[in-house]
Amino acid sequence: MAYAAFRSIGAYVPEKILTNDDLSHMVDTTDEWITKRTGIKERHIAADNERTSDMGVKAAALAIERSGIDASKIDMVICATISPDYFCMPSTATIISTKLGLGNATAFDISAACTGFVYTLSIAKAFIESGMKKNVLIVGAEKLSSITDYTDRGTCILFGDGAGAAVISATDNKDEAIIDVHTGADGTYADLLMTPNGGTGSPHDSLDQEAGACFMQMKGNETFKVAVRTLTKDVIEILQENEIESSAIKHFIPHQANYRIIKAVGDALKMTKEQVVVTVAKYGNTSGASIPMAMNDVYEAGELKAGELMLLDAFGGGLTWGSALVPFSPVK
Ligand code: ACO
Repeated sequence: MAYAAFRSIGAYVPEKILTNDDLSHMVDTTDEWITKRTGIKERHIAADNERTSDMGVKAAALAIERSGIDASKIDMVICATISPDYFCMPSTATIISTKLGLGNATAFDISAACTGFVYTLSIAKAFIESGMKKNVLIVGAEKLSSITDYTDRGTCILFGDGAGAAVISATDNKDEAIIDVHTGADGTYADLLMTPNGGTGSPHDSLDQEAGACFMQMKGNETFKVAVRTLTKDVIEILQENEIESSAIKHFIPHQANYRIIKAVGDALKMTKEQVVVTVAKYGNTSGASIPMAMNDVYEAGELKAGELMLLDAFGGGLTWGSALVPFSPVK
């Protein structure tokens, strides 16, 4: 049987920084409020002419280079995004694949909001374990600034832009294998976090939207409570099902939405400060890109070594959630 190994990580962070002080001149908020309630200090914003695919390409090129796997061997590209280059088609994955010269690799996007990267991981694992694909490029890329309402202080303080990518490839060595990926969803909470207009469910029932119709709207406080409850249950279950103690996790890399959510889940798992990866202060919430961006920071700091076990968790619009137990397994 083929197993799926997590080979490499890459990320791209746009240059421009939007600080809490900048936001305090745009909406009724303060650096103190944002820092205390979210842990966010600043976020990066893509240039006007920079598309989601442009950021995805930069992250993916690094991931492919670091994997040591020839680009011609990539046979599938999956992009997790809620801010695609185009509303319906072509998919952002197709654009990324073509810009990277990956030939006719299968390419498609998935929509699972902030859980997108964990969903792509589960799909890559399934395709590889079934023998249908050998080397899958997974990308989380977001230009959330393009769907953020900068007059809504409840959301605009949270989101940023960026991209992360990883190469997952087949191995027959079980020690290298991704151990488990959980994914789940519950549409009864759909109204907590949504972009209500622009699709066929839109009250306008038209693609000819009024300005600003596609911005994210969120019931933040309710979302917060469901996030903590759902994530805590899910990460405890994935550890128990795989008979792994939380002390065996070298890097707990949660979706970076809010420091208070990260801390609540980390505390429930009795994680030490050293185990928990926190990048929310500098990137804010980059949705599908947040986990690979955080992982890339650990990698570039020289702190992600072969064989080390990572626990990932994420939660987002849908509602969706997921977690994964992943050893870092670069090609030797
Ligand atoms: N500055 C100042 N005051 C504010 C701001 C702001 N930016 N935003 C809200 N407030 C006010 C509110 O109006 C409210 O005032 P009131 O008490 O007078 O009514 C007060 O602050 C408290 O508001 P809450 O919404 O209860 O604040 P909370 O502590 O819940 O923090 C936040 C809000 C940061 C949004 C938090 O709820 C959160 O992080 N939620 C979860 C987000 C998340 O995880 N989303 C899922 C992933 S995102 C995705 O999938 C794309």
